[in-house]
Amino acid sequence: MKIELRENKILFDNGTSSKEIHPFWLRERVNNDEYLDKNTQQRKFDPTSLQTNVSIKQAKINNDLLEIVFNDGVNSKLEIEKIIEEFSRNDSLIKSIKREKWDSKFGKIDKFNYAEDMFENKEMYDMLIKFYKYGFVLIKNVPTKKNFIVNFANSIGSVRRTNFGEYFDVKSVPNPNDLAYTSLPLAPHTDNPYRNPVPCIQLLHCIKNEVRGGLSTLVDGFTVTEDLKKEFKEYYDILTKIKVKFKFIDKDVVLENWSELIQLDENHELKQVKFSPRLDFVPILDKEELDLYYNARNKISEMYNSDKYRIEFKLMPGDLMMMDNYRLLHGRTSFDTNEGNRYLQGCYIDYDSTEGKLRHLKRKLKFK
Ligand SMILES: [Fe+2]
Repeated sequence: MKIELRENKILFDNGTSSKEIHPFWLRERVNNDEYLDKNTQQRKFDPTSLQTNVSIKQAKINNDLLEIVFNDGVNSKLEIEKIIEEFSRNDSLIKSIKREKWDSKFGKIDKFNYAEDMFENKEMYDMLIKFYKYGFVLIKNVPTKKNFIVNFANSIGSVRRTNFGEYFDVKSVPNPNDLAYTSLPLAPHTDNPYRNPVPCIQLLHCIKNEVRGGLSTLVDGFTVTEDLKKEFKEYYDILTKIKVKFKFIDKDVVLENWSELIQLDENHELKQVKFSPRLDFVPILDKEELDLYYNARNKISEMYNSDKYRIEFKLMPGDLMMMDNYRLLHGRTSFDTNEGNRYLQGCYIDYDSTEGKLRHLKRKLKFK
C-alpha cells in the first residue's frame, strides 16, 4: 500500500489498483495547531461548515510526509503512515485478535495473578488479548474486601450499573427474585438478554466457597453456533432470523428486548448469542415456522447443555472470572447449603471498557 501523486491528485494504491483520495477527506485531516487540538486529537473547526468542493493546488511527498496546499489557502503536512493505516481500516486491533473456538477439551486454564499495578502494564494487555481470544480469563488473588470487584471493573473501564445496582451478590437467600440466588443448578445461559443494550462483559468474583459442588461452568457459544450451522443449517438459519422477546419484571421495572437467539453482524459472522429459555417469548408465527423454531431451540439447548462443550472448574476465594456475555454461556452445578457458604459478587462492564484499555495500553507500551 502506498500514496502516489498525479497532477495534484493524490492516489492510494492498495497493491492491485490505484484510486484518487477525495481532497475533502484530506482537508478534514489537516493537523496544524490552528486546526487540530494536539491533546484530544479533535478538530478545532467544523468540517460541515466548509464547501466540499475543495481542491488541491499543490502536493508533494517529502520523506514520510504528504505536503498539501489546498485551494482555500490551508497548508498541511500529513503523515503517510497514518493515512495508510486508515485505509487498511486498521482499527481492527480487536478484530485482528483471532477468536479461538473451544469445547470441553479446553485443557488447563492459566490464571493471571492480581497485582495493584496490573491495570497499566503488559499483564493487563496480555489478559485482554486472551479475553478476546477465548471469551474469558481468570485472575487469582483479587482482594475480597469492600466490594473490590467495583474497583477492579473501574480500573479497566467503567462499571455498568443496572437496576440491580453497581454490583450484585450471588448467594442463596430466602424468597429469591432470581434462581441465581438459590442452591439449584443453573443451566448455561447468557445474562440479562432483556436489557437494551445487553451488558457485554460479566465479572464474577469469588468471596467464599466452602461447598463441594457449585462449580462454575462455561460454554463457548461461538463453537456451538458454528457446529449448529454445519450440522443443522435449517435450525441455524431460523435462530438467526426470528426475533423473540426477552422479558424481566419486578415491582419497579419492566425490561424488554427483542432479539434473535443467534445475532449476526453485517458480514454474517456471530455477533451475539442470547440464551435464557425461562424468559424468552417467541411471537405467534405460522405453525410450520414455529415448529421449526421450537425444534431449533431444543437442539441448541441440547448442545449448550451437552458435556461435549462445557468446561467446569471451582472458583476459589479471590478468583475473579471475566467473561464475554455476548459469546459465552455460563452456569453452575448445584451445591449443598449445609456444607457452608458460597458467596460470589458480580458486576458488568461494556466493550468500550476493554477496547479502550487495550488500545490505550497498545499506545502506551508502543506495540506495533
Ligand atoms: Fe448468570
